[in-house]
Amino acid sequence: PIEVPKRILEKLPEIEVDDGTKKVTIFFGTQTGTAEGFAKAISEEAKARYDKATFKVVDLDDYATDDDEYEEKFQKETLALFFLATYGDGEPTDNAARFYKWFTEGNEKGEDWLKNLQYGVFGLGNRQYEHFNKVAKVVDEMLAEKGGKRLVPVGLGDDDQCIEDDFTAWKEELWPALDQLLRDEDDSTVATPYTAAVLEYRVVMHDPLDATIDEKWHNVNGHAVVDAQHPVRANVAVRSELHTSVSDRSCTHLEFDISGTGVVYETGDHVGVFCENLSETVEEALRLLGLSPDTYFSVHTDDEDGKPLGGGSLPPTFPPCTLRTALARYADVLSSPKKSALLALAAHASDPSEADRLRHLASPAGKDEYAEWVIASQRSLLEVMAEFPSAKPPIGVFFAAVAPRLQPRYYSISSSPRMASSRIHVTCALVCDKMPTGRIHKGVCSTWMKNAVPLEKSQDCSWAPIFVRQSNFRLPPDNKVPIIMIGPGTGLAPFRGFLQERLALKEEGAELGPSVLFFGCRNRQMDYIYEDELNHFVNSSALAELIVAFSREGPTKEYVQHKMMEKASDIWNMISQGAYIYVCGDAKGMARDVHRTLHTILQEQGSLDSSKAESMVKNLQMSGRYLRDVW
Ligand code: 2AM
Repeated sequence: PIEVPKRILEKLPEIEVDDGTKKVTIFFGTQTGTAEGFAKAISEEAKARYDKATFKVVDLDDYATDDDEYEEKFQKETLALFFLATYGDGEPTDNAARFYKWFTEGNEKGEDWLKNLQYGVFGLGNRQYEHFNKVAKVVDEMLAEKGGKRLVPVGLGDDDQCIEDDFTAWKEELWPALDQLLRDEDDSTVATPYTAAVLEYRVVMHDPLDATIDEKWHNVNGHAVVDAQHPVRANVAVRSELHTSVSDRSCTHLEFDISGTGVVYETGDHVGVFCENLSETVEEALRLLGLSPDTYFSVHTDDEDGKPLGGGSLPPTFPPCTLRTALARYADVLSSPKKSALLALAAHASDPSEADRLRHLASPAGKDEYAEWVIASQRSLLEVMAEFPSAKPPIGVFFAAVAPRLQPRYYSISSSPRMASSRIHVTCALVCDKMPTGRIHKGVCSTWMKNAVPLEKSQDCSWAPIFVRQSNFRLPPDNKVPIIMIGPGTGLAPFRGFLQERLALKEEGAELGPSVLFFGCRNRQMDYIYEDELNHFVNSSALAELIVAFSREGPTKEYVQHKMMEKASDIWNMISQGAYIYVCGDAKGMARDVHRTLHTILQEQGSLDSSKAESMVKNLQMSGRYLRDVW
């Protein structure tokens, strides 16, 4: 174990104890469940280490209903751990958004407000992104600023590599600090090493004849809110290909029918879509599991007497269904397996040499091999299972510990409710890449969308559980304010919504401010999506200026940022008049380059030095005039 520097330990005051038990609160801000899983895992592990402490895992959203309650409860915390994921443009997860806003903006409390708090923060992020682990870093800093005592340096989990290893390393730093706080002084025994048990649901088999309820999927979901936990079923009304036949890529325009579902949205929102695995993927999973597709079952997180299983760490369940349906809708089998999944497979491998190798890959000694053979080669769970054919986990283990839950995919809605109140439009590029192992990876949701059967073609059309996620990507409250939109490729999506909205406003007689759209694609003949519509927006004055960068037409690449440079003085003038700037699309390349270009434009046009230009960009961001919807 890594020693915690003495100076950190010396600073720690006694932690508050009421009835002899020390209380530890473990908060999580999770989007896909990883942060929640880590929070639960550390809670289990800590319970095994410290019998005189209690550990409570808390969803940040459930913690308090309003800012006052946050403040009141937070001040009473003495020892807390935070697992905080960052996504998109350095944003908190949905369930942490309220907490984050309150903590970073809403509370004016002074320096020693949290002087009784000792804490540790572990972040979940991806180093490929500009705002790597921003949420965790900000919360960690602010907790210290408000008087909290940091037990360990903030953990910066990197999903691009092996986030489980980052988590393990962070824990090794945390334990010595917790040992000091949570173990009795006279307790000189060494903490017993903790080995996580393989998680398993209790599985109940049902009569396959009842399996018809399988398809009667929560049609009316019965919940007051529609969110990721309570999506609604929406039919695919329309589907079409946006690229021309000479393109070697594909981009789908898809319309979900939301009439009668209770779902509402605003221009600029996102839609979350729970899609299904391809049938070829499901068949392969069935073959590897060696189970019947018609097995009709339900999973439970308690035993027959209602006692919770797995110390509360089991992932959420799903409604009773056949194995085929469960594999199609709930199992992520194309991502690389986590180490814990390898251990679960090992526990059910009948060939001892396979079990050994799986355990080795999951062990510290096999770290490099895991990084190379699993992560770098992007080997899918199915590919790994194919290499270990004797590993046949039972259903309860497979869904609890081997295959993570298939996550919803988020898309920027490409329509406006003013034009299409009963439809949600999606503009989705097909993901189809050759992996290092030679596997052709077909993106689960984009492939599903490409193959979706629309209602206009068949009564037996495709459908998906969907929900809307609000965004802050909104047109200015005043229609007369100028707007600058930058969105190459499918980054055009929300701007199609913006322009539909402006067109509707125009038709109602509203006066619109100046607008410019920078769009980019490869070639006019291939992937100039929605060309006619864009021209129509110009002709009807919903859009004042349309500027298109074609990256593969001329001898040199032309990107949106090059076009922005050509229009530098116009952009400067618009910004001087209070323009809002919107960027949508790829975060890793485009949005970063556009950001730099914006900085350059401000610097050159305003004759500013670099730091002045930087603070101008920051101000635009802070005042909500520079908004990014990036992925
Ligand atoms: P390319 O594929 O020729 O490189 C939509 O995907 C458009 O965005 C394409 O024309 C693509 O060009 C372009 N693009 C790729 N990387 C970009 C970047 N870093 N900045 C701006 N545009 C980019």
